[in-house]
Amino acid sequence: MKTQIIKGKPVEAIVFDAYGTIFDVHAAVMKCAAELGPLARPLSELWRTKQLEYTWIRSLSNRYASFWQLTEESLDFALAIIAPDHTALRGAILEAYRDLDAYADAASALSTLRATGIKTAILSNGDANMLERAVASARLSGAFDALISVEKIGVYKTASGAYRLVEEQMGIPPNATAFVSSNRWDIAGAKVAGFHCIWLNRLSRPDEYADMAPAAVIQTLADLLAD
Ligand code: LAC
Repeated sequence: MKTQIIKGKPVEAIVFDAYGTIFDVHAAVMKCAAELGPLARPLSELWRTKQLEYTWIRSLSNRYASFWQLTEESLDFALAIIAPDHTALRGAILEAYRDLDAYADAASALSTLRATGIKTAILSNGDANMLERAVASARLSGAFDALISVEKIGVYKTASGAYRLVEEQMGIPPNATAFVSSNRWDIAGAKVAGFHCIWLNRLSRPDEYADMAPAAVIQTLADLLAD
């Protein structure tokens, strides 16, 4: 199996979180920025916060519901709080979420990584059909060897079973796999699961979860292959 040095460690695979890491979760609401004006950003932020909260509550309560259902429910909550006069935009915002823009750094970074021969994959809370559609609409179909959704086990990250899906599907152990996420909570979960973790700190946020620390912190995906 081909290995590649990623931030000081030879690994056989590099696995990416999807939403917030490869795909810009705020791009959906920003498609309606003209109608929403200054409400756009707070709407998108609350939507994302509630979407994630719903995944953790349902995982801790053992009451799984699909990520698409939670995405719809969290948007309804955020619209009711932030933009109750704009619920007519619901359909357009959800459709835009299905075809989220990838960040500008994704395609070139993934192409460079593929050229090294390393295996690449996504591990995401997103439903399998959501990931397939998002990867296709962002024209990243050839960038990944596997799209791994937690849907098959009915529990969300940071449950350990979610991270175990990577070795189950790719046959590569966590200690030979780099894990890249912009979500610091996701890095914490992957660190406990034994991955070589790289936090993509796109927003230059302060660190958290000090006892579950990444091996490296980067600002863009282009930094992955830098020393
Ligand atoms: C993902 C988001 C929820 O799992 O981080 O893709």
